[in-house]
Amino acid sequence: MIKPITAAWHFLQAQLRPLPVPTKSYAGCTVIVTGANGGLGFEAARHFARLGAARLILACRSTERGEAAKADIESSVTTSTAIEVWPLDLCSFDSVRAFCRRAESELERLDVLLENAAMLSITPAGMAEGYEMQVTTNVISTFLTVLMLLPLMKRTAAKFNVEPAVTVVGSEGHFWTRFVEKNQPRIFEAFRPGGALQERYMTTKLLDILIMRELAAQLDAASASAGASPIVVNAANPGLCKSSLFRNVFLIGQFFLAILTFVLGHTSEQGARALLAAAAGGRETHGKYVDCGKVDDPSPFVLSKEGKVVQKRVWDELMEILDGIEPGVSANVKQAPLSAMATSC
Ligand SMILES: NC(=O)c1ccc[n+]([C@@H]2O[C@H](COP(=O)([O-])OP(=O)(O)OC[C@H]3O[C@@H](n4cnc5c(N)ncnc54)[C@H](OP(=O)(O)O)[C@@H]3O)[C@@H](O)[C@H]2O)c1
Repeated sequence: MIKPITAAWHFLQAQLRPLPVPTKSYAGCTVIVTGANGGLGFEAARHFARLGAARLILACRSTERGEAAKADIESSVTTSTAIEVWPLDLCSFDSVRAFCRRAESELERLDVLLENAAMLSITPAGMAEGYEMQVTTNVISTFLTVLMLLPLMKRTAAKFNVEPAVTVVGSEGHFWTRFVEKNQPRIFEAFRPGGALQERYMTTKLLDILIMRELAAQLDAASASAGASPIVVNAANPGLCKSSLFRNVFLIGQFFLAILTFVLGHTSEQGARALLAAAAGGRETHGKYVDCGKVDDPSPFVLSKEGKVVQKRVWDELMEILDGIEPGVSANVKQAPLSAMATSC
């Protein structure tokens, strides 16, 4: 964990950075946004529609809320985008597998995978699929989705001569966790419904950044002959935003956070700009933390010697878990791309 003054300064710098309205065209592209029915995911989806994506998949656990989001987007922007609502519940591995299989069979290409859906709870949230619910949602299912969709994205790169992007939504909060579970022999099993819950969400976001970095490195290593991964992988921090994320926090009286969000928070639409900035960032953002639109260092822990060791441990454990859920899925990382990458979509 970094010193409070350094953390506060870092937060303020990122929070006050201007976030330009995205302008990159997504004409011809297919985009998936998870958690697209509300908050930043919804606003990101609206931007992708405005920017001309050919096909936009709103991945939502409630198709009713997804359909409402679709209707809202269609009535608020002029777009020819084909918007579809597909069910995806990250608390269910069956749902994740079904979603990814559908994408494999129905999508000809996948240019952007915006892994936005997440939950935050500082009261016991219970378990989902044998793991603490925030860990299942924010980390395990998030990367199960990424790994299952890698072959489609690699094919997209080769067939359409483009550079698809996986953007995982991280958080400034990853600076602020002590991550006590790293001292346990099995990190993922150390997360229980009780324990360091005040830090749990922040720890899941730290895990996301560690795993994103290792994934980027492994993709590069797997495509050594082509020089670099055909897919850009990065993590985006949207800064503190007004959304439903803190619904459970405010209920139990975290007034400081409420006031901070009221005074300094981006709107969800502004936060979504940071997500699109990362998704459009290209090669220079590969394996990087894109902090409110700008490549920046992740936390000192991530960059430390210990952080690198923990990154590999987390990765190895996660691959074991994911192969237990979907046998052989970890091999999707090493599977060679069909041909070298070229320009971005
Ligand atoms: N708001 C901030 O200040 C802030 C700061 C840094 C990072 N972030 C990150 O930004 C991303 C978006 O958050 P937000 O602020 O927009 O929060 P939000 O308004 O709570 O939206 C979260 C989205 O994730 C979906 N979701 C939650 N659990 C899910 C599950 N099990 N399966 C499928 N979808 C699920 C939600 O669906 P339901 O509507 O069905 O619940 C909702 O669509 C998250 O990754 C968050 O960690 C936010």
